[in-house]
This record gives sequence, C-alpha cells and structure tokens, in this order.
Amino acid sequence: MTLPAHSHVEEITRRRTFAIISHPDAGKTTLTEKLLLYGGAIHVAGAVKLRKTQSRHTTSDWMELERERGISITTSVLQFAYEGHHINLLDTPGHNDFSEDTYRTLAAADAAVMLIDSAKGVEPQTIKLFQVCRMRKIPIITFMNKLDRAGRDPFDLMDEIEKVLGIPCVPFNWPIGSGSDFQGVYDRNTRRLYRYERGENTGERKQAEEITALDDPAFVASLGERAHAQLVEELGLLDAAGLPFDQDLFLEGELTPVFFGSALNDFGVEPFLMKFLELSPRPLPRATATGPVDPHRDAFSGFVFKIQANMDPSHRDRVAFVRVVSGKFTRGMEVRHVRTGKPLKLNKPLQFMAQERMLIEEAYAGDIVGLWDSGALRIGDSLHAVEAAGNFEYEGIPRFSPEHFVRVVLQDPMRRKQLKKGLEELSDEGAVQVFYDPILLEKDPVLGAVGVLQFEVIQYRLRAEYGADVSYIRLPYQLARWVEGEGFNPRKFDDPGRTACLLDVEGRPLVLFQSEWMFNRAKELNPKLTFIAAVQPGRAHR
Ligand code: G4P
Repeated sequence: MTLPAHSHVEEITRRRTFAIISHPDAGKTTLTEKLLLYGGAIHVAGAVKLRKTQSRHTTSDWMELERERGISITTSVLQFAYEGHHINLLDTPGHNDFSEDTYRTLAAADAAVMLIDSAKGVEPQTIKLFQVCRMRKIPIITFMNKLDRAGRDPFDLMDEIEKVLGIPCVPFNWPIGSGSDFQGVYDRNTRRLYRYERGENTGERKQAEEITALDDPAFVASLGERAHAQLVEELGLLDAAGLPFDQDLFLEGELTPVFFGSALNDFGVEPFLMKFLELSPRPLPRATATGPVDPHRDAFSGFVFKIQANMDPSHRDRVAFVRVVSGKFTRGMEVRHVRTGKPLKLNKPLQFMAQERMLIEEAYAGDIVGLWDSGALRIGDSLHAVEAAGNFEYEGIPRFSPEHFVRVVLQDPMRRKQLKKGLEELSDEGAVQVFYDPILLEKDPVLGAVGVLQFEVIQYRLRAEYGADVSYIRLPYQLARWVEGEGFNPRKFDDPGRTACLLDVEGRPLVLFQSEWMFNRAKELNPKLTFIAAVQPGRAHR
C-alpha cells in the first residue's frame, strides 16, 4: 500500500509517541501485541505471545538475561502506523530496579498508557512508574485490563487510583458486569454498546451497537433486567458525582481518562486506541535554557535519551536513541554535536520493529531514531542540523544518586582492559554508575545502582559481552550525594563503613553515607557544602 504524501506539518501532527507503564503481569505484552496487530506491524495474532511463552521474552526484549528472568530490562522502541497516524511506542522496563531507565524513556514520550489488572488494582510498580510520569508531567490514559475475569468493582478501582496515586479518573466507557457475567462496555460519550462475546476473540473489528435510549426495551432485554438496572444506576452515579473530562487537565497530567477492556480478548482495544490517538498530544516542545523548542521549527534538533551497547551481540554495536524534537531528519545529514561542537554525519539511522531494525530515510519531530554510535554520544546530548541558528542544549536527563553500592573484584587480573572498557560503555549507557576511589582510581571501581538487579545485569553483561568475570563485595552505604562547595575536603569523609568519598566518571566527588542519620549529621556539620541528589551527566566538571 502506498501512502499519500504528507506535508511537513502533517507529518508532525500525525505522530504520537508514548509508553505503556504497568506492574508485571498486568498484560503489557498482550496489549502491545494487539496494538501492533492493529498497526499491521505484525500479522499473526499471538506472535508476541507465542515467543513470550516459549522463552519468556517479548519482541522487545534483547537480552538473554531478561529471558531467563522473565523481566524486561532494556527499553525498546516500536513503530507502527494506524489510521493515518505514525506511532512510536516506547517500552519501559517492568522492574522497579530499572526506574532510571524508565525516567529516561519517559523523557522521550509525550504520553503514557497506565495499564492496570482489574483484579489487582494499583500495584507497587504501578505506583513507582506513575510517580515518574508525575515528575515529568506526562498525560496518562488508563486501561483497566482483564475484564473477562472476575475483577474488583470499577468504582473501587477508580477510588484506589484517586486515593493512592492522587489523580482523578474520568471513565470513558463503563463495564457491564465482570468475569463470567461480563457483557461488554458502554461508551459514555458515543452511547454505543460494545458487546463482549465469550470465546470469540482476537483482531476482528466488531460493530458497536448504537443505543438511542437506555430504556429501550430491546436493550433492556438484551442485557437482562438486573444488569441493565445496575448499568443505569451506575451511569447515573457517574453523571451526577463524576468529574467532566477536561483536556487541559489531562494534558497537564492532572486527570486520567479510564477505559475498561480485555487485551487478551482484544476487547475494547481498538476503540481505546482510536480515542487515545485523539486525546493524546502531538509531539510536544522540549525545554532548553533559552526556552522551549517547537516541533515545527524547520531545522532538525533532538536529544539522546538512551544508549544501548551490544544490542546484537554478534555485531558488538552501540546504538544511541534520539528523540527528534524539531524539524526533519534525513539519512546522511550532517549534524552538530552540541557538547563537543563537532560535526557528525548520520549515515545509518535505524527504526525498530520487534527485533527487526530498518534503515530509515527520514524522520520527523516526535520520532525516535537509532543511530550507530562509535562512542561519541552520551545520554542527554543534543544534536542540531549544522545550518541551524543558535547553539541550544536540551535540558539534560538527570542521573540520580544511587542507593546500593558494590566494589568490583576482577577474577582474572589479566582482563583489566576488558573490565575498563566494559565499565566505560555500561556507564555511558546509564546501565550502572561507576565510581573510583580518589587514590586507587581504576584499581577498585565501585558500582552504584538505584536497584540491586542492575548489579546482576552488569555482572552478566561484563562476562557475556566483554569477557570479564567479576564478583562483588557489598558496601554498607545506603545513600549518596554529590558534593560541591568551598573548602570541601574529601578526607573528612573518609571513615570506612560510615562515610566514604568517591569520584564519578566525570571527576565529581560523591559522598556515601551509611544511613540517613549520618547524612543529616554531615549536612549540619558542613553548612557551606551543597549536597546534590541528581546531577546532569555529560556536563563539564565544575
Ligand atoms: P506483562 O507483559 O504485563 O507482564 O503481562 P502479559 O501480557 O504477559 O500478561 C500476563 C498474563 O495475563 C498472561 O497470562 C496473559 O495471557 C494474561 N492476560 C493479559 N491480558 C488479559 C486479559 O485481558 N484477560 C485475561 N484473562 N488474561 C490476560 P499468563 O498465563 O501468565 O501468561 P502466558 O503463560 O499466557 O504467557
């Protein structure tokens, strides 16, 4: 099928870039698969599912460790087209230990789908991921999944979202029964009934029934009197006590539209997708020190939000993922790498579809492009078309202070070079933070992570990708801060087991504390020092 040509403005306005956030097992893989099916990106129903059940991985998982553990660690980007839209779907890691990666990914997204298992409600990982969305003020649309199974009362679920997450809900459709009594959903705006038929499944586009009057006897008879009475009562309650939908509040992340459905049965997924595309924002501007940059600005600009080394172990390559913020990107174009001021020629831009990658000729604001990188790029780096005026940098993606620390012990001292290279690359990727003792320097690197699972991944990858076998010695620190200020003396913090001072890869001092109490005491004793919880990576050391 050849698509009609679109103008530059149309290209941008038809783009949508979003991520799905959910607790493991809520159905993210299943929902992703259905969305890809609608986009025609995969053709066999169950393709994603099948692979997942065979080896517990999804099309978007790359690493064997992920398959072994059945968790999604890295973030991938899937692109597909639907009804004239060009959609970039960013996958977020399902595990909280990788929340930094999620934060970076959400920097590239303009909206998020919050997927909730209707039997379980808000789960711990939902809360964590939601908080990251909140920090970034991302509009969130909620999909309550698994309505075909006995679930919780829909009012209860919305109440929980409002109480636990603090965001008001506006249901766009309303379920009629649940589990074995589930009959379908009623769309409150279009007054259509989407009837659920058990056993009938996957991918078929079903016609919704127009309900002209709720008390139409045929409608009452088709639902049964009890279910009908309950629906009418509940809709009445929503109309009387519920909030109206407010697009501005939604765009500010202050209100979430809610949809009920079942991803596995492909029930309610397409109407959800259509409404999502209508509600969710077009590519949004991104901030710089000199003000926001509009996506419709002519000249290309973008920023690196993720780096992934060795995505394909047989190629030992490194790919930097760039969110295009403005203008048009074309293959082979020369851009300025703002941090170094150097030109870069982008010859082999990639887009990703499942495990396939394709060379692309052009991309527009909102798109995610993968660039082959020989080591020049870092997370947070800005790129501009060379001819563009100004030299702005997009606001960087912060690096958060770690909460867990280990000292790396290399098993075979002959592999020091491999270890060094591995740690450099994995640190550039943001997979872990690497610190050095100010005196021993490279000899005894320390790793810092926000979640302990990161250490396991690093150990695995150092062995698999760099041939360096390491073990760890757990360090007793729980909190760390970068320190700036006059008269800072690292030796004052040299009190092994209680406090320690290390240097990060850019030479900035970081002080580790055994406890919150130690940290508070250090603040009191050193009023002239500033203790910083998050820094911008890639910036020159001050
Ligand atoms: P995840 O990526 O969020 O971890 O979840 P995934 O899609 O793998 O779904 C987790 C489980 O929930 C799967 O079952 C999946 O089939 C099921 N599921 C997803 N959506 C629905 C739904 O709408 N209704 C029902 N009833 N189940 C749903 P599993 O048996 O754990 O996985 P598998 O062995 O089939 O892979």
